[in-house]
Amino acid sequence: MQDKRQVAQGGDRTQDGNRKESRKNQILFQRPDNRLRRVTVFCCRINNVDRQFKSGQNLISELGVAPGETVLDVGSGTGLLAEFTADTVGITGAVMGIDPLPLRVELATRRSRSNLNFAVGDAKDLSSFPRASFDVVYLNAVFHWLHEKITPLRQFNRVLKAGGRLGITPRLSTFSATC
Ligand SMILES: C[S@@+](CC[C@H](N)C(=O)[O-])C[C@H]1O[C@@H](n2cnc3c(N)ncnc32)[C@H](O)[C@@H]1O
Repeated sequence: MQDKRQVAQGGDRTQDGNRKESRKNQILFQRPDNRLRRVTVFCCRINNVDRQFKSGQNLISELGVAPGETVLDVGSGTGLLAEFTADTVGITGAVMGIDPLPLRVELATRRSRSNLNFAVGDAKDLSSFPRASFDVVYLNAVFHWLHEKITPLRQFNRVLKAGGRLGITPRLSTFSATC
């Protein structure tokens, strides 16, 4: 591939309201005889943050998160979904968000309040939390990042109360169409 340049860009919304970015790229391939072949590629990318947040909201709803519950958000990133969950559990509940990246935790901490806290932490080691301390543990767009999944699953089982719920959303695909 010799060169790649963006030649057009546009944006609108999908039927379910997510932002959609469409781009037309031109890629120049160098052929064996050194002449160039120009190929146009159409990409359509649905805004990932919107999709991620919406899938997280659906997860919270599916899990039936209710006022007064204690919730662990594993891989909370910058804390947008944890903040939404804190509104759902209300002041009698509590949400704890953990993420291994200190910068994300620092950003998330700006959302902290009495029922919402964040800390640096990893799914594979939840030893800082007592056994049976959460009603709900969830991972939104995180589980596929875990290199080893058995240890984290055992950890979730340990920190969940009897009858507690575990919620996992899968990876969200980035491109809706390419050709
Ligand atoms: C795509 S982001 C999702 C963030 C957030 N859950 C959301 O819905 O906006 C994936 C997050 O998983 C975190 N992550 C990656 N490996 C992790 C691990 N081993 N334990 C906990 N979180 C992890 C990343 O640091 C990142 O913040």
